[in-house]
Amino acid sequence: MNKLDNNCIAIFGASGDLTQRKLIPALYHLYITEQLSDSFSILGISRTEYSDTDYQAKIKSALKDSEKLEDSEQLDTFCSHIHYQPLNTADAENYGQLKTRLAQLGEQYQTGGNIIFYLSTPPSLYGVIPECLAAHGLNSEEDGWKRLIVEKPFGYDKASALALDDQLHRFFQEEQIYRIDHYLGKETVQNLLVFRFSNGLFEPLWNRNYIDHVEITAAEALGVEGRGGYYDGAGAMRDMFQNHLLQVLGMVTMEPPALINANSIRNETVKVFQSLHPLDERALNEDLILGQYTSSKVRGDELPGYREEKGVAEDSRTETYVGLKLFIDNWRWNGVPFYVRTGKRLPTRVTEVVIHFKKTPHPVFGQNTPENKLVIRIQPDEGILMKFGLKQPGAGFHSQEVSMDFRYDSLDGAQVLTAYERLLLDAIKGDPTLFARSDAVLACWDFVQPILDFSRNNPTLYGYACGTWGPKEADELLSRDGREWRFPCKNLTDTEYCEL
Ligand code: BG6
Repeated sequence: MNKLDNNCIAIFGASGDLTQRKLIPALYHLYITEQLSDSFSILGISRTEYSDTDYQAKIKSALKDSEKLEDSEQLDTFCSHIHYQPLNTADAENYGQLKTRLAQLGEQYQTGGNIIFYLSTPPSLYGVIPECLAAHGLNSEEDGWKRLIVEKPFGYDKASALALDDQLHRFFQEEQIYRIDHYLGKETVQNLLVFRFSNGLFEPLWNRNYIDHVEITAAEALGVEGRGGYYDGAGAMRDMFQNHLLQVLGMVTMEPPALINANSIRNETVKVFQSLHPLDERALNEDLILGQYTSSKVRGDELPGYREEKGVAEDSRTETYVGLKLFIDNWRWNGVPFYVRTGKRLPTRVTEVVIHFKKTPHPVFGQNTPENKLVIRIQPDEGILMKFGLKQPGAGFHSQEVSMDFRYDSLDGAQVLTAYERLLLDAIKGDPTLFARSDAVLACWDFVQPILDFSRNNPTLYGYACGTWGPKEADELLSRDGREWRFPCKNLTDTEYCEL
């Protein structure tokens, strides 16, 4: 039974890429799977002048292309819920028209004044829009709830994140603010919680006594894909590490929440972020590897180096790769190294967490006894792989590595929502569990800020050829500790390294 409140989703940045590639397709899927409320409307807002009909036609054609759809009554009905309001978003006076339009839609769709304001604009407008909305009372919940979804990046550094937070809190309550980190919307990231805390088998071992080290990899095969202008000012540290990777780390390392609700869960992840061991001068010089991709031929294609990408400065020193060894200062994780890496133009797209368990105290079957590993694959080929040793058949007692695996696609009838579907649905339900809370975002910036300060002084930036696993110095990060990165293949259970 559909119990969602009727509502209007007002999207600022309606002609932008994110709206067309992610938000509208996500809303369409929720609509065709009957997960949206009985009555809903979508209001696109941006500076460009479109009529409702023009905007609907534009969205319909983008949807047909991206989702490979034919014309259908269902598609037409969905598009008929979409409206458009041209607006100079930086000018508070214009918001009077927006207010009138929202009131009309509220009547037409019986939304009871429930509105989600989705900020899918350049970050420079994140402060302005809430202020203008508030100037017209559009933050008031006297007549229906008002929620504000804010896209990343949430700040450019600690100071700007604090300033943005103050600005938002002047006009909206923390409970009304939903900071999106789409990694938290991924089913497999959420599964980390269930896997850890619903199995008596693993949780007792999930600590410094039994875990030797942990790897987290988020590799992308693509380059900056026309986003050079934005990326050159951000780099991998702000684009992936400060948010997505730290959120995954939070899920892997948090303590069990007292309850499964937004506050309990977020209280535990924030403690992890606050316990990250600050990087000192030595760690910044030795445990942090920054890289930038250089041109190379990959599978027959000549790929440009980062500095040749559109929008990127010819002498750019922005990192497209980060490899970092970090520690968490708490009882559970004291002394356990976490090796975290992310990069663009690596051999394949894969995100995974590898838990390496300690070896048995005495190597009774020889030094080559395989270690126990748990590979948690977040994407693609989502699943979990456990590696352990068994007796090699035949004479003697030799151990060989074998695997047990679970794959999400083996679950019958599982309907897995995409990250944006899940997060939009949660925001409509008013469930902030999978959205980053202010204190968590600021704690992540606290950890990252010294790295950004260090980067300003032009530290060594290693080149790596497109299609490789990053600078060789990142391998040394582990080899000097007697360890090595797992080479993640495209498919979870492949044993061959990916084709370069
Ligand atoms: C975005 C980054 O937040 O995440 C992109 O801005 C990156 O640069 C993307 O490509 C990765 O997301 P996913 O879901 O494809 O792993």
